[in-house]
Amino acid sequence: MDTSSQPKKRRVLIASSHGLFAQGLRSLLRERQPGDVEVIGVVSDIDEAMAALDRLNPDLIIVDYDDESLNRDEFLARFVEGEKKLRVVLLSLQSDKEAIVYDRRMLAAAQIDDWLKEWNFPEERNGSTRSEFVPRRSIPNRRMEMKNWWNRAKPLVIVSILIVITTVVVDYILEHIRLLPTAASAQAGSIDSLFRGEFLVISFLFSLIVVFMVYSVIVFRRKKGDTTDAGHVTGNTKLEITWTVLPLLTVLFFAIWGGESLRDVTKPEPDPLSVNVISQQWSWRFEYPQPDGSKIVSDQLYLPVNKPVLLMLSSLDVIHSFWVPEFRVKQDALPGGPNFVRELRLTPTKIGVYELVCAELCGQGHTQMVAKVPVVSQADFDAWVLSQSSLAANPVARGELASKNFGCLACHSVDGSKLIGPTWKGLFNSQVTLADGSTMTADEAYLRESIVNPNAKVSGGFPAGVMPGNFGQQMTEQQINDVIAYIESLK
Ligand code: CUA
Repeated sequence: MDTSSQPKKRRVLIASSHGLFAQGLRSLLRERQPGDVEVIGVVSDIDEAMAALDRLNPDLIIVDYDDESLNRDEFLARFVEGEKKLRVVLLSLQSDKEAIVYDRRMLAAAQIDDWLKEWNFPEERNGSTRSEFVPRRSIPNRRMEMKNWWNRAKPLVIVSILIVITTVVVDYILEHIRLLPTAASAQAGSIDSLFRGEFLVISFLFSLIVVFMVYSVIVFRRKKGDTTDAGHVTGNTKLEITWTVLPLLTVLFFAIWGGESLRDVTKPEPDPLSVNVISQQWSWRFEYPQPDGSKIVSDQLYLPVNKPVLLMLSSLDVIHSFWVPEFRVKQDALPGGPNFVRELRLTPTKIGVYELVCAELCGQGHTQMVAKVPVVSQADFDAWVLSQSSLAANPVARGELASKNFGCLACHSVDGSKLIGPTWKGLFNSQVTLADGSTMTADEAYLRESIVNPNAKVSGGFPAGVMPGNFGQQMTEQQINDVIAYIESLK
């Protein structure tokens, strides 16, 4: 074939990962423009295309518009950067009536006028067998924009829907796994509704983070054979303002709600039942002041139902914390005397036996620092008060009660088992071996000294300095005598 008389052929590069596209296009070009066009190569991805651009110097690149694996945006971005004369056609075989053409060319100053005319009346060129530059915003262009917009928005839409679903599911689970026990106080309502709101926000934040993360890990993972770098993202002011302001508003919202709730649960009720709650390592003691000036002392917190209670909390040693989960409210008990007494108000609303736990890590016996909280009818409460007031004039019974109230039994067993301190069973008048090897009789004088000054003669095998040295100030003379009587009774 004699090529010298013919005009220069257009050198065409086809970009498609589908063999049929290239094949079909080749025969189409051969049929429509014989001798005018030469297909100089077929590339299947952007990297190959860029290499071919330098190496083969095409005049025209025809890109398979329907090929999802080709990154069209990237193609066009790279196309804009270059300076060589080049035309890119996005061709869809699904709509063979339209194609999008991008034209890159050099114009001399004199040609610019002509070009502007051409640009203003592109319709006149319709019908031409050679499609010339059509830079107006044509319909297929807008359609492509829509498609591009949807491609970008699709993950966000899917993730948003998944976040809503996950939030509902997580919130439902949090609500139904009974994180909170029965509500048994008038104060529980406002605390529980606060929890409700927090669970909802927690569920949403959990879903927001986890759904985004899992979706990205699955959908945007590296495809097989892909060795390109990820896109470089540098800052997004709108997003940064959003994720600063929204959490700030959320925190402020809960601060206000929490303040309202606190005001609600600390509101004083008229004529409350006042109980002194005395804590120590590792027991609770409850004192009910009586009208005659005496007081009932108990190791259980008896409360009448539906009666407002004012608890006066104090500690004899370290910080403890009063918490009955069913009542929801919680308050620390502080050492330091009358100036450090803390108040806690609550109104039990359900009859039952609850458990008071210490909610402040306070040493070895912290987890055993529990007490029963029977909530009873007013009639049962009155009967209990009566029975306590007329506690039998029995020193052993009084001593047993005092041993519980003063926490002795947390460390001393009454059944022979070994706890932190020596058992009381069979202790009275037995022979004890001291740390220095000497022996002596555990008579009344020895027991009294061991209560008042526990480190004077420590029984062998038990560490010194463990037992508090202040029982002499805490207990009355009669209480000490009662405890010794109780120890004597444990044969
Ligand atoms: Cu007291 Cu923990």
